[in-house]
Amino acid sequence: MGMADMKPIQWRVKSMDRVDSTQTEASRLGSEGAPEGTVVVARMQTAGRGRRGRSWTSPDGGLYMSLLVRPPSSKRAETLTLVAALAVVRGIEAATGLKAQIRWPNDVVIRDKKVAGALAESNYRGEALSFVTVGIGVNCNSKITSDSAASPATSLVEGLGRNVDIVDTRKSILKAFADLYSKWLGGADPVEAVRSGISTLGKRVVVLTTAGKTLEGFAEGMEPSGGLRLNLDGRKLTIHAEDIEWLRET
Ligand code: BTN
Repeated sequence: MGMADMKPIQWRVKSMDRVDSTQTEASRLGSEGAPEGTVVVARMQTAGRGRRGRSWTSPDGGLYMSLLVRPPSSKRAETLTLVAALAVVRGIEAATGLKAQIRWPNDVVIRDKKVAGALAESNYRGEALSFVTVGIGVNCNSKITSDSAASPATSLVEGLGRNVDIVDTRKSILKAFADLYSKWLGGADPVEAVRSGISTLGKRVVVLTTAGKTLEGFAEGMEPSGGLRLNLDGRKLTIHAEDIEWLRET
């Protein structure tokens, strides 16, 4: 399909008051055949999930949503996390004027404090990619002090000094996602698109790997796969999102 044939994604929002996790609900709907563009939004989650099995605290006053997309199997679903994070950055700016950045691989930060996170989970039928649920959580009007030991957190209300309109924020993020997603489907390099929005590049970073090793070095660049190129004082190494517990910029 050429760029010209591509219709922007049509969102169909399912709003819920409370759910265990919008990811679980979206994945249930996906296996029942729900179309691309289905969005599950909840006012609260009782078992919100973050990266690597961490929990995502989800009180009233935040934005919690999962977007169902059905990209062709040939696309690398890993880079969708970056697309989602960039959509969050742009949506936050459009809705509030606040400048946010991406801390590799999937955190959205304002002044180095985490304000939002994105998570793309692939669902397969046999070997073939069936659909992806893109989970987005934004701390909006609730004061959140910390979501993990490695990362102090903030919320939009803290950055802005007044409450934000959660529905507006949601709409802005969906609009930005629709735009970036159709470019991504059309072959645009997500890494190129996010480069300017990544706070991590050009910084010294400390990384805890899933193997329990701490690495310290300079974040030099990104691979088309979404991997981060590190220079560990001379030794070059590319790390992937699935290899790390957390990353801190120093
Ligand atoms: C992370 O930074 O670890 C990713 C956090 C993603 C949280 C969102 S909230 C909406 C959706 N439902 C979930 O259970 N998780 C994602």
